[in-house]
Amino acid sequence: MTPRELPIAGTREILGGALAFKRDQLGFLADGISRHGDLFRFSPLGLTMILANHPDHIQHILVDGEHRYDKDASLFKIVRPVLGEGLIVIADKERWRRQRRMMAPHFTPRTVAGFAENMTGETLSMLERWERRPAGDDGLLDVTDEIGQLALRIVNRSLFSADVSEAAQTFERAFASANGVLGSFFRFPFPPLTWPTPRRRRLRRAIDDMDRFISGVLKQRLGDEEAEGTSPAEPDLLTLLLHSVDDDGHEMDLGQLHHEVLNICVGAFETTTNALSWAFYLLARHPEAEARLHEEVDRVLGGRVPTFDDLPRLEYTRRVIDETLRIYSPAHMTMRHAREEDVIAGYRIPVGSNILINTYLLHRHPEFWHSPETFDPDNFTPERVAERPKHAYVPFGSGPRVCVGKHFALAELVLALSTVARGHRLVLPRDARPVEPEPLVTLHPRGGIQLRLAHR
Ligand code: HEM
Repeated sequence: MTPRELPIAGTREILGGALAFKRDQLGFLADGISRHGDLFRFSPLGLTMILANHPDHIQHILVDGEHRYDKDASLFKIVRPVLGEGLIVIADKERWRRQRRMMAPHFTPRTVAGFAENMTGETLSMLERWERRPAGDDGLLDVTDEIGQLALRIVNRSLFSADVSEAAQTFERAFASANGVLGSFFRFPFPPLTWPTPRRRRLRRAIDDMDRFISGVLKQRLGDEEAEGTSPAEPDLLTLLLHSVDDDGHEMDLGQLHHEVLNICVGAFETTTNALSWAFYLLARHPEAEARLHEEVDRVLGGRVPTFDDLPRLEYTRRVIDETLRIYSPAHMTMRHAREEDVIAGYRIPVGSNILINTYLLHRHPEFWHSPETFDPDNFTPERVAERPKHAYVPFGSGPRVCVGKHFALAELVLALSTVARGHRLVLPRDARPVEPEPLVTLHPRGGIQLRLAHR
């Protein structure tokens, strides 16, 4: 049968929907779904974009027909000036495979188990800092900022044996600035990359600051490696990257090494930060879920600091994390470029199309979630999980390019949340207004999340 042509959204709007998309990216896409269904095309400024919003499509694009798609898509072109050719963005499949194979052993559940003490230790230090804080005029914690520093400390200590305490805040600010600028580039594609507009200058400064942060991490260790006896007892990911050789026997050059470390920091930082910040926010708004979490943490841990071996028994805590990643999926969009013509659900996918997958919308698909806007950790009981197609829920992506840090992130999130929940709660300030998600390159809580620390 000849494939049909895709329905087109935004035809009645100026510039193929580009302005509507710029004004309200999620609203534009949700409206497209309600008018045209789970697969439609739109053409902001002449670009071919296709939204795919059904689990079967996701499975086809990311897993079964993965060889027909790559990352040479407009989203990754936009972030490439920041991330270079590191693991997140690299489009060349052979090079990607080499880099991924080299890094994967550092991210298995067994390796992650070795980082658990570091994850709880850094969380305990954060709690001590919170306790020591002079009571400010409002007593509020900037949770997003605090958790951001925690996430950076954990990833850098675990994988690069680097202490980034001092520099963490600089990185956070630089990333926030870059995320804002790149998010706006994505919503209004794609101004020429050379004009020195104020936004572009802001992006340049942010890139320079992040580069300085990464150079600091590398300097700590490259300096250390030369000074006898100061390199880590166990070889870490940085040791491996430093001494890796490609098929022709060449070591990774400093530029590539820099980008790989940056990709890991960026991949690990904002996603985990947003997930844990949103989890505290959702628990503060849902006392019944918070009470069940406390009951489990008390029963399983009896006041102890959690270990990696406790994870299977911290079932409800994990469900809270899974549900948070559903409602506020931090990496809310990804994209693939069609290397060849394809057919999905009977529709023709033209070669060169940019296929957009938006997990904020996919995770609210009414066919697969009873009450999509409601925070309900029991969406992740084994029975309910078994009722849904696997690709209805993909906060870490799927297929060969699934998040390499998935086990790391899940262990970190459950361990950090249960470590805090043993003795503390984070509560909403009086007159708190709802926090809105802001769809930048990641799904950021607009204005950050501010909560008050309380003892249980
Ligand atoms: C809640 C936390 C996290 C979420 C939601 C998340 C989400 C994702 C998603 C959706 C992808 C796939 C993107 C695509 O298919 O285009 C991805 C890839 C990646 N993530 Fe994560 N991530 C998280 C944590 C981490 C951590 C902790 C690390 C590192 C320690 C990490 C490093 C990476 C890297 C390097 C890639 C690229 C993998 C490849 O293409 O081979 N992420 N992540």
